[in-house]
Amino acid sequence: MPYLEVSDLHLYYETVRGIVRAVDGVEFMLEKGEALGLVGESGCGKSSTANALLRLLPKNYIEYRGHIILGRHDLMNLSDDEFREQIRWKRISMIFQGAMNSLNPVLRVGFQVAEPLMIHRNLNKEEALRKASELFKLVGLPSELVDRYPHELSGGMKQRVVISMALVLNPELIILDEPTSALDVSIQAQIMNLLKTLKNELGITMVFITHDIALASDLSDKVAVMYAGQIVELGFIEDVLHKPLHPYSQKLVASVPLLKGNKKPEFIPGAPPDLVAPPHGCRFAPRCPFIKEKCMVDPPSSHLVGGGYVKCWLYE
Ligand SMILES: Nc1ncnc2c1ncn2[C@@H]1O[C@H](COP(=O)(O)OP(=O)(O)O)[C@@H](O)[C@H]1O
Ligand code: SF4
Ligand SMILES: [Mg+2]
Repeated sequence: MPYLEVSDLHLYYETVRGIVRAVDGVEFMLEKGEALGLVGESGCGKSSTANALLRLLPKNYIEYRGHIILGRHDLMNLSDDEFREQIRWKRISMIFQGAMNSLNPVLRVGFQVAEPLMIHRNLNKEEALRKASELFKLVGLPSELVDRYPHELSGGMKQRVVISMALVLNPELIILDEPTSALDVSIQAQIMNLLKTLKNELGITMVFITHDIALASDLSDKVAVMYAGQIVELGFIEDVLHKPLHPYSQKLVASVPLLKGNKKPEFIPGAPPDLVAPPHGCRFAPRCPFIKEKCMVDPPSSHLVGGGYVKCWLYE
């Protein structure tokens, strides 16, 4: 039995334009200690999937359903109070997109890391700050930095603070939403190395969200390619990188600039569909070079392949 099993996950928003089907039947599985790269173009529903996993729902959500089985229990059966008391930050934590720029500017960073320990673990301030400075060491920050304010730190340092905040209550699963996208390439590489070390040393399960499949390959064991609110291909990262099956995955892989060789990166023509009124059949059909008649009528079902699945009629 997998450690994390997500199925039939839906999160819809109500807007003046109609209902936005941001997460529309997401399914994936993960073993303990594995990292899943969740990749896809901007607007395909990656952050919404993260929020759905952590039950952080905006006011205008209109539908939220599915199954999130962690260990043996379906988290969807918990009440909101139970979810907040037992799961959020304690068993599943998250690094939000752009989090390093939303640290509280008037509080010392060590205190911001220590505070959850005072609230949830009943530690006094001194004990909590001691634990924060231990966490700083773990994420490669000098422990003296606990007394600094966010504006005194570089981007890479702030991101390390944010990572230590996500670790503070010893979660089993961390969701990282584009954790390096605001950083320079060299700092990005340092943060990726830190994440790899944390994964290997602490055995934390990770869902790593990025629009960059090459970056995902650096950390992930598996990859889920998301398109228009759904996962269209799930597989081991080596398989998807070297032999992508879904036509959209093929385009994503072909869009990665190669360091060696003279093949130019390809652009993906067209734009993703409007999630208020996605195409009836395959959502990728308007951009797909292999489209056949059936694709415009019937949404493709999941076909099991290798360690995962592909949603495309070519593999029927
Ligand atoms: N609270 C909301 N209300 C309405 N639409 C939203 C809301 N949050 C996100 N969206 C829309 O949902 C879609 C998916 O967004 P998001 O999950 O942020 O995608 P990604 O993280 O892949 O860029 C987008 O079309 C976005 O505009
Ligand atoms: S189902 Fe059809 S349109 Fe969709 S990706 Fe496969 S071949 Fe292309
Ligand atoms: Mg996002």
